[in-house]
Amino acid sequence: MSLRLGDKAPDFTAETTEGTIHFHEWLGNSWGILFSHPADFTPVCTTELGEVAKLKPEFDKRNTKVLALSVDDVESHRKWIPDIEETQNTRFNFPIIADQDRKVAELYDMIHPNASDKTTVRSVFIVGPEKKIKLILTYPASTGRNFEEILRVIDSLQLTADYSVATPANWQHGEDVIIAPSIKDEEIPEKFPKGHTKVKPYLRTTPQPNL
Ligand code: BEZ
Repeated sequence: MSLRLGDKAPDFTAETTEGTIHFHEWLGNSWGILFSHPADFTPVCTTELGEVAKLKPEFDKRNTKVLALSVDDVESHRKWIPDIEETQNTRFNFPIIADQDRKVAELYDMIHPNASDKTTVRSVFIVGPEKKIKLILTYPASTGRNFEEILRVIDSLQLTADYSVATPANWQHGEDVIIAPSIKDEEIPEKFPKGHTKVKPYLRTTPQPNL
């Protein structure tokens, strides 16, 4: 059965470029991103993994660990990493799972046989500290992902975990947010002392509360 938002992220043990990882134990109390790419030594994947390496300090700031996966073996991953470093002008700094037996790919439904029966699609799973799945994305092999968008979603998820708010379309950290419909008008001044705007009875905004 495929995974859905709110499900427990399945635990697994896997070999990676940084040794054996027990997924839940490796996550600890952090947020996590598990993302698959189709294959080593391919152009789009090379740019994606380089981009994630460059953004790693931003993931660290958000207490978020990153873990890549493809169905190639550790030896192949290790031979590919210098190419990523050279062409993307970065130092590689996170583990890649060697999933040549497809154990993790199948657990997370990352092989879509009508797209390719040999390789994983570009899946992204964001996992919260309680090990629940918070976001699922699936991109085709031909489209590299926007990892700034993944950071934006983490900002939204971490904010909305702590406050009764939601974030509007194209929201960026620092911009106004939407007060959750469950909050009554009379509760707003106490919960959101920075003020609010009632655009419609169902659309009430407030400055980002955790700044
Ligand atoms: C790539 O990463 O460039 C790629 C991988 C599989 C199919 C198409 C492109």
